[in-house]
Amino acid sequence: MSPDPATPARRLPPGLVPGLPLTALAPMQDVTDLAFMRVIAHYGAPDYFFTEFFRVHTQSRPERHILRAIDENTTGRPVFAQLIGEDLGHLARTVAELLHHPIAGVDLNLGCPAPKVYKKNVGGGLLREPGRIDEILGALRAAVPGLLTVKMRVGFDDLSSFDHILDLINRHQVDLLSVHGRTVKEMYRSEVRYDAIARAVAAVRCPVLANGNLTSATRAATVLADTRAAGVMIGRHAIRNPWIFRQCREQFAGRPVTPVTLGEVREYIGRLYRETTVPGLAERLHVNKMKKYLNFVGQSVDATGAFLHAMRRTESESALFAVCDAHLLADPGRIFAAEPYPGVIARPNCETPDPAPDGCSLETITA
Ligand SMILES: Cc1cc2nc3c(=O)[nH]c(=O)nc-3n(C[C@H](O)[C@H](O)[C@H](O)COP(=O)(O)O)c2cc1C
Repeated sequence: MSPDPATPARRLPPGLVPGLPLTALAPMQDVTDLAFMRVIAHYGAPDYFFTEFFRVHTQSRPERHILRAIDENTTGRPVFAQLIGEDLGHLARTVAELLHHPIAGVDLNLGCPAPKVYKKNVGGGLLREPGRIDEILGALRAAVPGLLTVKMRVGFDDLSSFDHILDLINRHQVDLLSVHGRTVKEMYRSEVRYDAIARAVAAVRCPVLANGNLTSATRAATVLADTRAAGVMIGRHAIRNPWIFRQCREQFAGRPVTPVTLGEVREYIGRLYRETTVPGLAERLHVNKMKKYLNFVGQSVDATGAFLHAMRRTESESALFAVCDAHLLADPGRIFAAEPYPGVIARPNCETPDPAPDGCSLETITA
């Protein structure tokens, strides 16, 4: 479909390095807040950020803590505001509210696999109803004067509606599509269907970001070559390795990828602790919050999972950092593995088929 001549040209913000494939930090509830965005930007920002999802329903107002990631964004990189919901009027109302904030665009969540979410027919649940997606995209396209983006999985329990939904992406002139190459039922741990991402790239007119298990810059480059996507979106592996976006740019430019040392990882953990310090937050709760990030970091510290084992048993700031020092500063020049060590699972106790009941949670979304 050629662009409507009445519609002013909508352009995606340029990437940090013109000509290179795009990179984006995947939206992650309870993770991609202002503090985490700042930390990531320190080690090499992605081209684009996406907020955690704003819940949209009759009584909803844009959540203040998510708005902070937009209003106080000092990373220098654009942030898209993600919405989850299905009520056309309230989606339009929320867009109108968000337009008072410096957003790069509005992103629709068509992927959240939490049963409590999809049973309300929002997030991944909408993939069962392409007719409803058609209405929602129509309402959003009318409400969003700038960039409208979509993040989707490849289907609910199979790919039977995938091509139809890709047609809707074209029909409503979506400006950027991120595809997590799993169905809703496949949750977070199955093989990723990069062939389906390639199918989306071939079908839609907008750029596509490939998402799902992009564990390293090398892996990202392979998936880009296989799918011909315009860029990559990376979530959990950016928690493990916040240098990954800088490394992607090195890889994509054909330069050697700068490895990370354990000493640098220790510095990252200290920075994460400082940035996530909130007045009044009890030390024990802060330590617990840190453990959620460190579950991912630990996948590349040692092949035996010894760091993870010790880290999980700590209950105070001093104990946590004593474990970090013992495992990361004994040989600070040792290389932090570019890929997770095989079999080192982020949180084996939580390898259950269902994620958190009302959303996505670091407690449960692991390896
Ligand atoms: C803790 C966590 C929270 C998430 N929250 C969201 C969210 O708010 N919106 C969304 O579209 N996807 C969310 N996701 C899915 C990610 O954006 C991404 O699609 C998924 O993790 C696969 O990418 P990865 O293998 O690079 O992590 C979440 C994932 C995790 C691990």
